[in-house]
Amino acid sequence: MTTSLSTESPATSDLALGVAGLTVTFPGAGRRDVPGVVALQDVGLQVRVGEFVAVVGPSGCGKSTLLRVLAGLTPTGATVTGGAVTRLVNPAGGPATAWMPQRDGLLPWRRALPNALVGARIAGMDRAVADERARALFDEFGLAGFERSWPHELSGGMRQRLALLRTCLPGRPVLLLDEPFGALDAITRRRMNAWLAGLDLAGHGRAVVLVTHDVDEALLLADRVVVLSDRPGRVVLDLPVPRDGTQDARRTLLDALDPHGGS
Ligand SMILES: Nc1ncnc2c1ncn2[C@@H]1O[C@H](COP(=O)(O)OP(=O)(O)OP(=O)(O)O)[C@@H](O)[C@H]1O
Ligand SMILES: [Mg+2]
Repeated sequence: MTTSLSTESPATSDLALGVAGLTVTFPGAGRRDVPGVVALQDVGLQVRVGEFVAVVGPSGCGKSTLLRVLAGLTPTGATVTGGAVTRLVNPAGGPATAWMPQRDGLLPWRRALPNALVGARIAGMDRAVADERARALFDEFGLAGFERSWPHELSGGMRQRLALLRTCLPGRPVLLLDEPFGALDAITRRRMNAWLAGLDLAGHGRAVVLVTHDVDEALLLADRVVVLSDRPGRVVLDLPVPRDGTQDARRTLLDALDPHGGS
């Protein structure tokens, strides 16, 4: 759903995408007599061109729901007030946002390369162009030589890199990543984070929103970290990541995530 951001403040010319006054309510167990679940309440979020924003919050606070709305995918059956606007334009035409869902969504009956091509082909990208780009990205993503592997033959980290590659392939300027490394063990995750930090995903006029549970991942990768409260999710903190030392920011984030943790 796309609406005007009339309540947006401040209005910025370099806004990449955002939401204002976003409230999302799901019907209660699909029945009229059961109260609905308010997943998000009056959420405002603006992301500037070139920014990498991480969204953290407790499980069930509405992070995936927020990302879906930013992707223009209004959750089925939900009542949505407020809405998302994307100001960045896809030079190739079509949607400006690329969404990586929480589960990798790889098709088990397709080898790695055809899996990578799925989104680009649906978006109408020329087969030869998509193929050439995919092969270059397999190299960049450390997957060269695995183009003909089946998903089950790849490690967890490789599968996630393949899913991310597929998200990046159509070249859309806004990447929306839902816990891309959530299912990985701690060491693989650290390696993936170090690798991702070197990719400059938000460079060249792009923007990234990353949902994560992991404060350290957020601090390593993002320019800003937005903390959502327990459901219904509201923005309780919007913190620029300091370049010189993140210890204080880390404490601030943990306090915001768990305000009663010490009591
Ligand atoms: N399709 C749906 N139908 C009904 N309720 C839903 C639906 N999708 C999400 N919800 C509810 O909305 C709330 C927020 O869900 P969401 O998946 O956005 O949370 P999350 O922050 O991403 O959680 P997690 O960290 O566990 O992934 C939850 O209470 C969930 O049950
Ligand atoms: Mg989620």
